[in-house]
Amino acid sequence: MEIKTAIYAAILTGSLAFLTYFGSSCGSSKDLPTPEKQTLREAVFPFGGAISPEFLKNDTQYRELAAREFSSITAEYVMKMTAISRGKDVYDFAAADEIIDFARKNKMRVHGHTLVWYRETPEWLKNYTGTREDFIMLLEKYIKAVAGHFKGKVVSWDVVNEALLDDGSIRIEENIWYQKIGLEYIEIAFRAAHKADPDALLFYNEYGQEYSKVKSDAVNKLMDELIEKRVPIHGIGLQMHTNANINDLQLKQAVRDAGAKGLKVHISELDVQTNMENNSDYVFTEESALKQKEVYRWATEAMMELPANQRFGITFWGVTDQYSWRWLYEGIPDKVLPFSEKYEHKPGYEGILEGLKEK
Ligand code: G3I
Repeated sequence: MEIKTAIYAAILTGSLAFLTYFGSSCGSSKDLPTPEKQTLREAVFPFGGAISPEFLKNDTQYRELAAREFSSITAEYVMKMTAISRGKDVYDFAAADEIIDFARKNKMRVHGHTLVWYRETPEWLKNYTGTREDFIMLLEKYIKAVAGHFKGKVVSWDVVNEALLDDGSIRIEENIWYQKIGLEYIEIAFRAAHKADPDALLFYNEYGQEYSKVKSDAVNKLMDELIEKRVPIHGIGLQMHTNANINDLQLKQAVRDAGAKGLKVHISELDVQTNMENNSDYVFTEESALKQKEVYRWATEAMMELPANQRFGITFWGVTDQYSWRWLYEGIPDKVLPFSEKYEHKPGYEGILEGLKEK
């Protein structure tokens, strides 16, 4: 079969991503162009990626793929407290402003991640001694400064990230905000963010809802309690760092349950692990790719099943496999994203396109 016919056949059958990624009997993948016109920017809801300024600066293909495919971006690290806070009332927004600048140039939405997290708290905060009121004031002041700085540039925030443990209980250990303020830190954070930027959409962000109904129910119960107290909250983030063994019904039920209260739903950190044993000599096979493709399709279908006004979108946790946190940050060889280290569409991308098709 000649190249042209293969390309048309592949586009028709939606398997171009597969042929591109694994090559084809009718020529190497370099002969099959990635379909430029077919990008996720035209999708019915926003798709995005977690972005690092260093790769934007140093990697043209990274920059081009993000601009081509994403209508929304999240800072993978540079909007976290350790990246911004240089001391009490001392802020450094330079790196985060590079993300804002890239988004402005490419007409993208920016989702802020994250104002309050138990991790990435700077040393000065860990050494700070003060009363509960002092810590409340410190938290409110930090949020006012950061959400105020990005007002009009960041449309939405993960105000609080990962406040719950896998058993659904509140995270106490390692959580300075709970230890110094108590459970109320959550609503204090949301109220402070709303005061700093009344137009921003405010999210609670969590992982593991698709793995555990206990966790999913605990998140949704926390949302009920915040809504009950008229806390300004507009959405739920399901991080969905998921894997090839996830059950489709469980994944879709978690998204459905998150949407049940009418809040916006963000699949906020999507990636699909296939190296289940974290083997250091792991090889990503065609079988891995096809399993991963199914999970990307399920996540997309789950978002499609929500009412249109609740589909905040899907954000992949990274842009291409070689910069994924699983490799760079955890040192585990795994190819978790829909875009390969060669910046090509993987079968997972095809799964997303299939998931977008109106049923
Ligand atoms: O950029 C600095 C560099 O200047 C400095 O020299 C170096 C010293 O350690 O640190 C570098 O920052 C690293 C940063 O990633 C940027 O690469 C931090 O050490 C490192 O801790 C940070 O890891 C991030 C991690 O969150 C912790 O913030 C990962 O990139 C990021 O993928 C990961 O993302 C989290 C989400 O925020 C929340 N959900 C889970 C997800 C995966 O863990």
